[in-house]
Amino acid sequence: MITVVGSGRVGATTAAMLGLMGLDKKIVLIDIIKGLPQGEALDLNHMSSILGLDVYYYGSNDYADMKGSDLVIVTAGLARKPGMTREQLLEQNANIVWSIGKDVAKHAPDSVVILTTNPLDAMVYVMWKATGFPRERIVGFSGVLDGGRLAFYTAQKLGVSPSAIIPVVLGQHGESMFPVPSRSYLYGIPLDKLLKPEDYKEVVDETVKAGARITELRGFSSNWAPGAGVALMAKAVKRDEKRALVASVVLRGEYGVDGLPVEVPLILGRGGAEKVLEIELSPDEKNKLAQSVEAIRKLINSLPNQYK
Ligand code: 2OP
Repeated sequence: MITVVGSGRVGATTAAMLGLMGLDKKIVLIDIIKGLPQGEALDLNHMSSILGLDVYYYGSNDYADMKGSDLVIVTAGLARKPGMTREQLLEQNANIVWSIGKDVAKHAPDSVVILTTNPLDAMVYVMWKATGFPRERIVGFSGVLDGGRLAFYTAQKLGVSPSAIIPVVLGQHGESMFPVPSRSYLYGIPLDKLLKPEDYKEVVDETVKAGARITELRGFSSNWAPGAGVALMAKAVKRDEKRALVASVVLRGEYGVDGLPVEVPLILGRGGAEKVLEIELSPDEKNKLAQSVEAIRKLINSLPNQYK
């Protein structure tokens, strides 16, 4: 059983993709808003009836209904409005994520948690503290999103399929994220050998600003790419794929960081983030990553004490 907490756009899109990908027979949607998860579940059940999918959606306002879930996906919390940064959501979303974390620890104590709530890295930290789970069972979604965007803009420049690009974005899911050109490849050729510096700069700029651009254009934050990315991660967990991807996890000495969540490449399987992959970086790249880690540290330091 999979539970999706939060029935907003990201939650509902994720739930649809989980069903379309056949990842479980029962998907529970939980939200505090009366009627919302029940209504989404009904609509999704009609979708699965039309498409002949082998999945049943159940909507609830009761966190106890996540009992029996081996995977809990947390999409709850406020999303950015036009002109806002992810960091401005810190206090309100920390409060929401903390209380959900307590419920996850109580009702789904053996689950892997995938989280999308912003500011992402700080929320991974809050969820880790609230649940008391081992670090590998709290995985923040965002690396797949940032990487997917980097691949898209690069592919547009090169006239190739985005699927031909293996993107690596390290650090924070925020303005200080660090796309690494020497470690992102088009089938073995690093991007810094393929793109002119000014083109690469443009690609990075578009990647960093992509989330804000979507929000400005349509008035609300992204949901399709997050839903797809979370479903891809859910597949890696449910099918124990040992898939390599970039996600946010609390580091324990890797990249010289201890006790902070950072977007890094890792192996995702049944046990969550089973292994962190350490990429060799040049001194200049290490410096860029360190700046991004500092932005995460600063944000976490500014969290109210009860969430630390
Ligand atoms: C984004 O980058 C919402 O943070 C998310 O679109």
